[in-house]
Amino acid sequence: MSPAFTNDQHLNDVLESFDHATNPRLADVLRSLVAHLHAFVIETGLTREEWMTGIEFLTAAGHLCDDRRQEFILLSDTLGVSMLVEMVNQHASDGATEPTVLGPFYVPGAPARAMGESIAQDDSHDDEVLISGVVRSSRGEPLADASLDVWQVTPKGLYDVQDSTITPMSHRGIYRTDADGRFAVRTTIPVDYQIPTDGPVGKMLAATGRLSWRPAHTHFMVSYPGYRTVITHVFDAASPHLKSDAVFGVRDSLVVDFAAKELSFDFVLDPIT
Ligand code: BEZ
Ligand code: FE
Repeated sequence: MSPAFTNDQHLNDVLESFDHATNPRLADVLRSLVAHLHAFVIETGLTREEWMTGIEFLTAAGHLCDDRRQEFILLSDTLGVSMLVEMVNQHASDGATEPTVLGPFYVPGAPARAMGESIAQDDSHDDEVLISGVVRSSRGEPLADASLDVWQVTPKGLYDVQDSTITPMSHRGIYRTDADGRFAVRTTIPVDYQIPTDGPVGKMLAATGRLSWRPAHTHFMVSYPGYRTVITHVFDAASPHLKSDAVFGVRDSLVVDFAAKELSFDFVLDPIT
């Protein structure tokens, strides 16, 4: 009787199946993914039922995805993968602004806003805050006409795309810096909010006793030709969820005092070398 086919031989067969791929990077990524998946199955002694539960979980996530809802990004976020991808790709110099997750609620094509204009399009809001500062390069020069794409939840704790009663593109805007690299963004004081929990990701959080809260923040995507775009947030120091962000996105350098109503925050971009 020939010896039983081993797990290692089985893995090698799968790895070798990628040897003729014409895209070498694709082959490398798939080989690594398969090796880790096989190791995971062996390490956990994954049962057939557990494997099927995983398949059903991913199927349910796929069914929830459309142009307004992205359950797979949410899954990546809550497993800390989105933040890790940012960290691995950061290559930022010491003084450059730290990145954090993009999240599933970025919408391209926000309206242009003037210096100091509010992103809040619905009614007037008492709890407004002015965030101003300079966009500069890590070599110190101010960057004129840099773009700041800004988005945030309304005081109800929802993004416009989550609530049909909110004017589309409210709480979003694209600002430009002046000749001295200065910008001024007016917004409502952000509130803590819960990520969507009505899908499989919510079930995963509940089943593992995890919180679904994100600490209050304003999103920024800051870009300038020839420089690395920074995707980040500024977080409110008063939030009780800074240490328990559902998506592990908080960095100390991004925490500011929104209660001051007028706050200063500079964005520092690295040149693409
Ligand atoms: C957000 O900040 O918009 C967000 C990030 C990750 C998951 C859900 C929401
Ligand atoms: Fe957010």
